[in-house]
Amino acid sequence: MELQGKSIVLGVTGGIAAYKAAELVRLLRKQGADVQVAMTEGATHFVTPTTFQALSGKPVFTDQWDARMPNAMAHIDLSRQADCILVAPASADFLARAVQGQADDLLATMVLARDCPLLVAPAMNRQMWENPATRRNVAQLLADGVSILGPDSGEQACGEVGAGRMMEPEEIVESMIAFFAAKVLAGKKVLLTAGPTFEAIDPVRGITNLSSGRMGYALARAARQAGAEVTLVSGPVGFAAPQGVDRINVRSALDMHRAVMAHAGKADIFIAVAAVADYRVANSAEHKLKKDSGGIPPIELIENPDILAEVAALPDGPFCVGFAAESRNLEEYAQTKRRKKKIPLIAGNLIQDGFGGDDNRLVLFDDAGVHPLAPAPKSVLARQLIQHIAHLTGNN
Ligand code: C5P
Repeated sequence: MELQGKSIVLGVTGGIAAYKAAELVRLLRKQGADVQVAMTEGATHFVTPTTFQALSGKPVFTDQWDARMPNAMAHIDLSRQADCILVAPASADFLARAVQGQADDLLATMVLARDCPLLVAPAMNRQMWENPATRRNVAQLLADGVSILGPDSGEQACGEVGAGRMMEPEEIVESMIAFFAAKVLAGKKVLLTAGPTFEAIDPVRGITNLSSGRMGYALARAARQAGAEVTLVSGPVGFAAPQGVDRINVRSALDMHRAVMAHAGKADIFIAVAAVADYRVANSAEHKLKKDSGGIPPIELIENPDILAEVAALPDGPFCVGFAAESRNLEEYAQTKRRKKKIPLIAGNLIQDGFGGDDNRLVLFDDAGVHPLAPAPKSVLARQLIQHIAHLTGNN
């Protein structure tokens, strides 16, 4: 529910991507937003107002002269209640009319009369998107402070391939969440590690830790939404990088160490979430070990560098945050780790509370004491932890 309490006017204009706006309404509402749909006449040729009414739970407005507004001022009343107007899909024609400040239909009039931000997700044929007229219009909208979401590139409804596809509804929702998030880390550089590391025994076998990477990815996303420039050094995990996050893929602890040390000098904040293998295989084999090659193969282990402790020891290094996943004695082990690694903040969790799942329970340990956070989804905990870091680093 990351858009709880937000009131969004969704303008839908005439384009085939209008059918995706139906899914967008559903996703915005799932995040807790109140959605009021306003359609252009063109949009109604692609999707009916009834579809949007059913999904938004509100009557849909298409007409300036709609008799349902007692004062006949739908354009004022509807836009005054909004925290933002989002137009998705935004056709080439709509962009042109918004640039001109035209008020020739309800949506254009609402956009002109608004006192809230405007975000548009353009969708059109690639030639229309590349046309100098559209380029001029987009440049002007940006200069006027309008946020432009996308468009994506790829296959288009007309069969052509190029830039102009509407950003996917999930990504538009991500952009909306980022848009509304408090920018408590604006301009800061945040470096994170996430996921497990994999220490090869031979080309197909290895030693690893159980780590889904969810908490690290949720933190990277929350840091980005808080306005930070985020670099995520990630061990092998199965999901995509959060929007706007620069990801460096690594496999072993040594790869992770190398990538982190290359970026740590520039970072303001370092958050070590990765489950780094404590040891790697000293005698890892170049070729696959064979079962019938005489006895159980000996595996020699050597210690991996402690990435977090090394970054924490850098002169003028970043503000360092560690994680302690324990199966018991959380406070004692987490506090010992914090002292040993000489870091100002450590987030502790009991493995049985959240390993691999979407929810977790975190306890923060810093110089001021112990701060237990209520059990919550990892996305919520990530936001709270970013808030806490911003507070400790004097950024809010
Ligand atoms: O030492 P331990 O693994 O218990 O500490 C956990 C914390 O230290 C986590 O924040 C983890 O990302 C970090 N760490 C590290 N490099 C290692 C081992 C742990 O950065 N080699």
